[in-house]
Amino acid sequence: MCNQSKGNYYITTPIYYPSDKLHIGHTYCTVATDTMARYKRLQGYNVKFLTGTDEHGQKIEDKAKEAGVTPQQFVDNIVLSPRGVLDLWKLMNISNDRFIRTTDDYHVSAIQKIFKKMYDKGDIYKGTYKGKYCKPCESFWTESQLVEGKCPDCGREVQDAEEEAYFFRLSKYAGRIQDLLENTDFLEPRSRVNEMVNNFIKPGLEDLCVSRTSFTWGVPVDFDPGHVVYVWIDALSNYITALGYENDKYDDYDQFWKSNPNVVHFVGKEIVRFHSIIWPAMLMSLEEPLPRKVYGHGWLLLDGGKMSKSKGNVVDPYILAERFGVDALRFFLMRSFPFGSDGNFSNELLISTINTDLANSLGNLVSRTVAMNQKYFAGQLGQGGQSAPLDEELKALAQEVMANYEKQMDNYQFSVALAEVFRLISRANKYIDETTPWVLAKREEDKPRLLTVMKNLCECIRLAAILLSPVMPQASTAILDQLGVNEQGRSWNARCYCADEQALWTTTPGAPLFPRIDMDKELAALEEISAAAQAPAKPVLEIEPYTDEQVDFDTFCKSDLRAVKVKECKKVKKSDKLLQFILDDGSGTDRQILSGIAKYYQPEELIGKTLVAIVNLPPRKMMSRESRGMLLSAIHTENGEEKLNLIMISDEIPAGSKLM
Ligand code: MSP
Repeated sequence: MCNQSKGNYYITTPIYYPSDKLHIGHTYCTVATDTMARYKRLQGYNVKFLTGTDEHGQKIEDKAKEAGVTPQQFVDNIVLSPRGVLDLWKLMNISNDRFIRTTDDYHVSAIQKIFKKMYDKGDIYKGTYKGKYCKPCESFWTESQLVEGKCPDCGREVQDAEEEAYFFRLSKYAGRIQDLLENTDFLEPRSRVNEMVNNFIKPGLEDLCVSRTSFTWGVPVDFDPGHVVYVWIDALSNYITALGYENDKYDDYDQFWKSNPNVVHFVGKEIVRFHSIIWPAMLMSLEEPLPRKVYGHGWLLLDGGKMSKSKGNVVDPYILAERFGVDALRFFLMRSFPFGSDGNFSNELLISTINTDLANSLGNLVSRTVAMNQKYFAGQLGQGGQSAPLDEELKALAQEVMANYEKQMDNYQFSVALAEVFRLISRANKYIDETTPWVLAKREEDKPRLLTVMKNLCECIRLAAILLSPVMPQASTAILDQLGVNEQGRSWNARCYCADEQALWTTTPGAPLFPRIDMDKELAALEEISAAAQAPAKPVLEIEPYTDEQVDFDTFCKSDLRAVKVKECKKVKKSDKLLQFILDDGSGTDRQILSGIAKYYQPEELIGKTLVAIVNLPPRKMMSRESRGMLLSAIHTENGEEKLNLIMISDEIPAGSKLM
């Protein structure tokens, strides 16, 4: 049966700041959005899935300066380079239809038109901005919004800011926004509604500063040079410019926004404020329809705190995907953390989830079933069979699971939907123990019963694989391939439980789907990788600048450089700097040299070494001792600190040898 389109469905991730490499928290949000997009496609919706990068703003400008490159080069590097943003989404099997970068020309010119439209309408006006600004969050705050004088989002210091600026009449839309939040299910989970209304709307929604003059890396206000558009106005608009709003690059705005009742934004909880207050107000001002839903998901926490690029405590999704497999990582993210709440990430939880659910439950069910099919029926399950009441119970559970799964997925409860699928998988494993196919296989008259048992198992696996496919697309395909299920049997409409009607099962064993992981070994390996990643960066080395001043050859030749051997070496009393050397210079008479290198060497480590000295310098008195010459050393600067190495030459070179 072919899926008839159920209509259009538009889903988006936030657009990520390319200020640093993305981490597992960003991956979580993108995988959730991808799961939803795949689920809706499976159901027969015509899906448009957008993600991208939010590339303007002072933070990026500052970071680029620090790195000594232009802001465009900086963001290009994070987005396009190997293991950058695009590569990460490819690795994670993200099925986005479009990728927007806010530096794309079509977006920039659309932002200028959007800004002008709101200005012409009188919703944007010029005034003076006085207040507090949090640079890392790119957020303006009023004094009353600060928490203990710090940014209420990230807790960092804010700066005083005062300048001529444009303002958006957010206050004008306060009533409509409050109504939208309180009286519709526009924002979910519901707990976030109270937070928005109590913290932001009830205290009085102030007009929003929407332009800056203190930096240039942004979309210029075309009718007032010197001003750039506030990065959140620029960023939020991506959801419609990427469909062709106010530009000719795309033309799906009518189809996927204007006349589409299914528009869903997935966003992290700290940016719900922008999506549920500022964004609808902008759309009201532009007289455009509002999205259907903003869902504010929780954070993945590490050691109880938020992972953050600026704190440095991030987990690299590349390493995890490469070690455990992309589908296993996707599954872990969707299975382990209730979508609306925060959750604690740990390597232990990741490994135990893979072992328990994927290796033991699912992997075992598939491999046992397929192996028994091969053994008892050479992989071919034909017509016929014999049912028992137990089969009805299994079927009823499968049907209940399918209904619950759909309900939970439609409510964005991925972890609960997956728990349902694993209820079916566990039940099927138990069904094997109850029916004992290996006993049935012993007697010819039990063969019809054995056939039905195997068909029921195949059917449960087929249904589980369909339901798991939005989360684990590759593993689900591999499972359905092992069962020999045709295209039609993989579709959403083939969700009916029909073990007998499923034409003929032809199964083929495949590679193990999810090998068990040795927890201790793997934890140790991950520990090592993270220690190596935290190892100090390569030192910054500096050498003395070269001089243009030349020395003529004859002058150079006058320097008498000789190999000398250290006979004695000791610290000079009352001096932190000086070492006193007694050297064999091959002349038969000991030579004394004083050298200011005590902070670099312990005297005893130098005894017996062959060094280089210039021996025809005029003698000098140091701490009332005579020094006859100078030992040569190499100096450089490492991370700003001066380093010194005495020149040591082969001990085979006799004392007194002349160096030319
Ligand atoms: N650029 C803005 C979004 C503009 S959307 C018009 C932004 N970027 S961000 O890179 O800082 O964050 C993007 C998303 O990643 C946010 O939704 C944020 O919540 C999410 N996450 C960042 N760290 C996270 C976790 N540790 N856990 C879960 N999600 C996290 O904000």
